[in-house]
Amino acid sequence: MMNAKIGTIAKFDDQIVTLKGWVYNKRSSGKIKFLMLRDGSGIIQGVLVKGECDDASFEEFEKLTQESSVMVTGKVRKEPRSKVGFELTVHKVETVQIANEYPISLKEHGVEFLMENRHLWIRSQKQWAALRVRSEIMFAIQQFFRERGFMRFDPPILTPTSCEGTSTLFSTPYFDEKAFLTQSGQLYGEAGAFAFGNIYSFGPTFRAEKSKTRKHLTEFWMVEPEMAYGKLPDVMDLGEAFVCSIVKHCLENCQPELVILERNQKELETIVAPFPRITYDEALKVLAKRGMEIPWGEDFGAPHETALGEEFGKPVFIHHFPSSIKAFYFKHADYANGDGVDHDGKYALGADLIAPFGYGEIIGGGQREDKVEVLERRILEHGLSLKDYQWYLDLRRYGSVPHAGFGLGLERTVAWVTGVEHVRETIPFPRMMNHLKP
Ligand code: 4AD
Ligand code: MG
Repeated sequence: MMNAKIGTIAKFDDQIVTLKGWVYNKRSSGKIKFLMLRDGSGIIQGVLVKGECDDASFEEFEKLTQESSVMVTGKVRKEPRSKVGFELTVHKVETVQIANEYPISLKEHGVEFLMENRHLWIRSQKQWAALRVRSEIMFAIQQFFRERGFMRFDPPILTPTSCEGTSTLFSTPYFDEKAFLTQSGQLYGEAGAFAFGNIYSFGPTFRAEKSKTRKHLTEFWMVEPEMAYGKLPDVMDLGEAFVCSIVKHCLENCQPELVILERNQKELETIVAPFPRITYDEALKVLAKRGMEIPWGEDFGAPHETALGEEFGKPVFIHHFPSSIKAFYFKHADYANGDGVDHDGKYALGADLIAPFGYGEIIGGGQREDKVEVLERRILEHGLSLKDYQWYLDLRRYGSVPHAGFGLGLERTVAWVTGVEHVRETIPFPRMMNHLKP
């Protein structure tokens, strides 16, 4: 008897195999019994027919409850009506454990209840599919950067300072000092870029966001490439190629998952370069045309991002933001002069990528200030301490060069690609403002 996995069952056509898994569902119709079996790699229908199946197993079927663990042996058969293309003619069922009243039945449940039972909820089809896509995207990310010669470079998670402003820092005692959970690996990534050229970091980041929206987590994963000698247009070129490659990878490798998620794949197929690139000022005009005027200098809210996504139906880059709404490290520019001639210009050389269909900003990045005296001034203007950033200023003292990079939020990207409503469904155990358990 051969062990097999449902995900690769096609390799076992016409063979007798053992599948080790759990009961997803079952039903009987007269002399035939149907067992939906899941094994983590997929779901297959097992068919028990008296005579083909041993008598004890035929009886055992009656005791099986949802999520009981079982080992099922039978013959793999082609079945065009099945989602996986195959069925199993069951010869034998061995029970490992009978599950006692599994709390998540196959009917609808409230989100609160499901979140409390997240440790079980991840077994449900859609959750399972979304997390499988997440895992594939993580693979695609590493492949993308490896192919382009970016070295993976790991910034610390415990940090002494802030990167994205002090209002969303989680702090923790650190012996006699205070430490913060990292908001972004960027500042360390810049050091990495000056040592290794092109690098990327990829890991969890933390923000004490008091936002209860479908786009905000307090713990989320970010991938952050940083390019020595990179400038603002390089951020958009790389971000565009990156997002296209993620979508393409999913279309090629996540078919069963996208089907379970009922994702409109036609829509995903339209995600190809080039993406529109507009300035903040142009974005204001687009919004005004759609009846959503906002004063110059204000940041976009969720409705504005949704409207911009709708306008273009494709991911869209917004660049040249008012510097007043951007972090201290952005290089400033006078817009008319383009790339950073006038350092007191009112625009920051930033670029955000807004995903269509209301998923919001998935990339935030730009070109970094590379002059030590300008950066010192900015640190002070932002109420930060020069002492804390001496190491970061060193990067401008010793061989400073233009450099740029971005951060892509993994969960927002997975939410958009899978079409799930809320980012909480794209990470195994979401952490949110009112949610720390399990
Ligand atoms: O725009 P952000 O704040 O940029 C940075 O942190 C830069 N230091 C990155 C860099 O240039 N290396 O965050 C980047 C991305 C956002 O576009 C969004 O996708 C995601 O991180 N993000 C969140 N995702 C989920 N929950 C949150 N609370 C998020 N905050 C940001
Ligand atoms: Mg941002």
